[in-house]
Amino acid sequence: MTHPSSLAETLDLDVEVLHEYHRDLIDWVASATVDRPRVVDLGAGTGTGAVALARRLPRAEVYAVDVSDEMLAHLRRRADEAGVGDRVHTVRADLDQPWPDLGPADLMWAAASLHHVGDPGRVLGQAHALLRPGGVLAVAELDSFPRFLADPAGAALEERCHAALARMRRERGMHLDADWGALLAGAGFAVEATRRTDLALDPPLPAATGRYALVSLQRMRHGLDGRVGAADLAALDAYAADLDRADLRVRATRTVWLARRP
Ligand SMILES: C[S@@+](CC[C@H](N)C(=O)[O-])C[C@H]1O[C@@H](n2cnc3c(N)ncnc32)[C@H](O)[C@@H]1O
Repeated sequence: MTHPSSLAETLDLDVEVLHEYHRDLIDWVASATVDRPRVVDLGAGTGTGAVALARRLPRAEVYAVDVSDEMLAHLRRRADEAGVGDRVHTVRADLDQPWPDLGPADLMWAAASLHHVGDPGRVLGQAHALLRPGGVLAVAELDSFPRFLADPAGAALEERCHAALARMRRERGMHLDADWGALLAGAGFAVEATRRTDLALDPPLPAATGRYALVSLQRMRHGLDGRVGAADLAALDAYAADLDRADLRVRATRTVWLARRP
């Protein structure tokens, strides 16, 4: 396992496997906005939020912002395939730099993206300034990366590996433990609701689960050299080489903050 699977594929598999969670979340957030919203997706990736919001809100104009050209090209294909390409606009921008004019927004969406930025408080301040009074920002963050291995030895191995990766991400300055409620309040938002979801999928699992588990384990393995022992690396390789969907499960915890500009 030397080549990491792409983040883009992982994001697409996430929405395919956890489609009920994503559908309910989009319904919830969409119900908090106006009939004809201008939507801005911060760190849009492959478009899980941007495309779904455009589909759910047929009168919305959606601006999908990301620093990666590769992600935006992928997002454009997905938006066109979904028949919403005319209302989904891609904007290449680094959220840590001065923002381009994204116009006043009614709804902003930031899923699994704000922990990447250099200064989340500053980005939330800019989001607040971009929203119309009464506008809504939804921040979705991962409490943990998904776990797949069901047997006790595999589950313990996965925990050790995730713990090592979490240490690495903290060392690199990623904001995985940020208090988003406090940061939102500090930026001037009124936090209206916080929704924490423990996701637990057991067999029979969606068809894409095996692939999702494989690419997730491959991506995890790629970052682990020198961070866990050789026995754990060998065990992880062995699991990835012989994944059987019948032996898998999916566990993940995610939290979403729904905040309004007063
Ligand atoms: C984990 S992905 C999440 C994508 C998408 N929101 C989703 O939920 O599937 C994080 C995304 O944030 C983007 N990103 C990270 N740092 C960024 C920055 N400073 N400015 C703009 N986009 C950024 C990455 O390119 C990536 O597409």
